[in-house]
Amino acid sequence: MKENNLNIAFFASHGGSNMQAIIDAIKAGVLEAQVGCIISNNSDSYSLKRAEIEGIKGYHISSKTHLTEIERIDYMLEILKKHDINIIVLAGYMKKLPVEVIDFVNGIVLNIHPALLPKFGGAGMFGMNVHKAVIDAKEKQSGATVHLVDSEYDRGKILQQWSVEIDENETADSLAEKVLKVEHKLYTDTLIKLSNGEISL
Ligand code: GRF
Repeated sequence: MKENNLNIAFFASHGGSNMQAIIDAIKAGVLEAQVGCIISNNSDSYSLKRAEIEGIKGYHISSKTHLTEIERIDYMLEILKKHDINIIVLAGYMKKLPVEVIDFVNGIVLNIHPALLPKFGGAGMFGMNVHKAVIDAKEKQSGATVHLVDSEYDRGKILQQWSVEIDENETADSLAEKVLKVEHKLYTDTLIKLSNGEISL
């Protein structure tokens, strides 16, 4: 990837606070990148509202808009092409990304996971399930991981990980809050390092 040439498509299903942190960094001039579009499988996703507020083109693509998987993939590819996207940033996207979509951006698909992979990753490890599992395992540390996405869950190359300490009275809720703050900084930092060539793929 050419330095300073990130044209991002976000894929999000829910709130999109990580996406917002990245958009804010771009607006503040901290991260050199553009956001071409936001795609959500959920018409009620706040990420689509954020798209509207930010003046970014938002698309709802699901079985409600396109009946078959083939139609959904074709539409995704059409959008990515139209906006000249060269990197996909998953921001709480709850669907598996089709391999055709991963291939369109030459495998440059990033995800953030709210734990220190490879621990606490894989099927079923999303949202509060992750933090509950970490607390139940009496871990001393957790954190967040930015990694490349391939066709397996949480398996792609790890790009950056930042850790947090787990306090004695930590609960899954307090840990989630702590980790989310780190996620916002880590995701932005990873994209900065990708755009300036400090991290190469
Ligand atoms: C984050 O915890 C992230 O690690 C996971 O999904 C959550 C998304 O949160 N992949 P938000 O939508 O960015 O607020």
